Amino acid sequence: MNQQRTTFGSRLGIILATVGSAVGLGNIWRFPHTVGTNGGAAFLLVYAVCVLLLGFPVMMTEFFIGRHAKKNAAGAFKVLAPGTKWSIIGYNGILAAFLILGFYFVIAGWTLEYIFTSVTTSLDGKTVTDFEKEFTLFSSGIVRPLICTFLFICITHYIVSSGVKNGIERASKILMPMLFLIMTILCIRSLTLSGASEGLKFLFQPDFGKINSSTVLSAMGQAFFSLSIGMGCMITYSSYFGSKTNIQKTALQVTLLDSLVSVLSGMMIFPAVFHFGIEPTAGPELVFITLPNIFGQLSFGNVWACIFFILLAVAALTSTISLHEVGTAYIHEEYHVSRKRATLYVSLGVSVFCILSSLSFGVLKEATIFGLTFFNLLDFLTAKIMLPGGGMLICIFVGNRVDKKIIKAELTNIGSVPFYFFRAYYFFIKYIAPIAIGVIFLNELGLFKWIQTFF
Ligand code: TRP
Repeated sequence: MNQQRTTFGSRLGIILATVGSAVGLGNIWRFPHTVGTNGGAAFLLVYAVCVLLLGFPVMMTEFFIGRHAKKNAAGAFKVLAPGTKWSIIGYNGILAAFLILGFYFVIAGWTLEYIFTSVTTSLDGKTVTDFEKEFTLFSSGIVRPLICTFLFICITHYIVSSGVKNGIERASKILMPMLFLIMTILCIRSLTLSGASEGLKFLFQPDFGKINSSTVLSAMGQAFFSLSIGMGCMITYSSYFGSKTNIQKTALQVTLLDSLVSVLSGMMIFPAVFHFGIEPTAGPELVFITLPNIFGQLSFGNVWACIFFILLAVAALTSTISLHEVGTAYIHEEYHVSRKRATLYVSLGVSVFCILSSLSFGVLKEATIFGLTFFNLLDFLTAKIMLPGGGMLICIFVGNRVDKKIIKAELTNIGSVPFYFFRAYYFFIKYIAPIAIGVIFLNELGLFKWIQTFF
């Protein structure tokens, strides 16, 4: 069975597909609005710490699990710890994949709408208010956003059902570098607007008074979300790695590239936000109301907009493929149904969540659960609870259940690549990461405030 498993074609293919999973709306849509609502630079700093100290080690650990077990997110734990309850980590991940797709597809659908409008309507003479109105009109509607969402689901469905190697690898090879290039151009335009320095200050000059418990939880959540970790996505992808893939290097490259794209995205958005007088705290619409304004400042703005949103849609696509793959690989391998059928089950299941989260920008706006709309609830549950929780359990599992020698052998390709900091890494995943994540959870629950009341 294991021998028949598809593997990624080339070493470059591995990096690109994995980066493709990590880089997506999380960097270009979620990162700026999370930075915006959490006060800017101070958040960025906490975020950087989370990426380095939690994200990177957890990613490497997921790579270890995936390549060692050569199985889907849940199956991997059955191989590594047969007959135990550890596969619950995998189930948490598979559920998270469904829930993330349940809101991710909606935003991905928005990118399609913006491709259409960049072709059909002119940007000329429009003001900030016009762009805001257009966005609200579109997102609060029923039919249009749903059509866009379903279109995106269909594209993802088609690629995932056609198989791992051909679909994922080819798509990401050319388009990711192009996205990077166009973002750099937009960044330059944004930085040359008057008042750009305000934006840079917001992004890079920390005001430590702004850090509170929810900043830390948000930063940790964003780190896990952006790096695609904590739910078995990287376990599933690394199960397709070849035996020569350098896990340490791959994890480092993915982490750095992903962070670079996020920072670039911040530098593209915030100078413009301050120039045009948009509220940094606008929330999920931040990017969609800021970008058209930047395009309006460029000659051939519509062309730029069109290219950019196509590339953003592709970045989102490589991420939705990876999320879809988690559920599909699980159903395909564990229930022995055909790959095509497994893909269909996932797509249909996810569609139900998508309908509800798309409508929560309009008709279901008032229908809140714990004060959150359905869309926000899915985002909160996954990014801030399930992913860090999953990451914590992954560390506890590998740190306590797996023989240290096996981990070292896998991470060094049986001794052929050196791992100078193995001890530090091991100490981190065994003690520091699980404790830190636990403390951040407890802090959010108000435990420390409660303790303070006694002093
Ligand atoms: N990381 C992707 C992004 O930033 C989204 C994503 C893909 C993801 N796979 C994931 C998030 C797995 C969490 C877990 O857009």
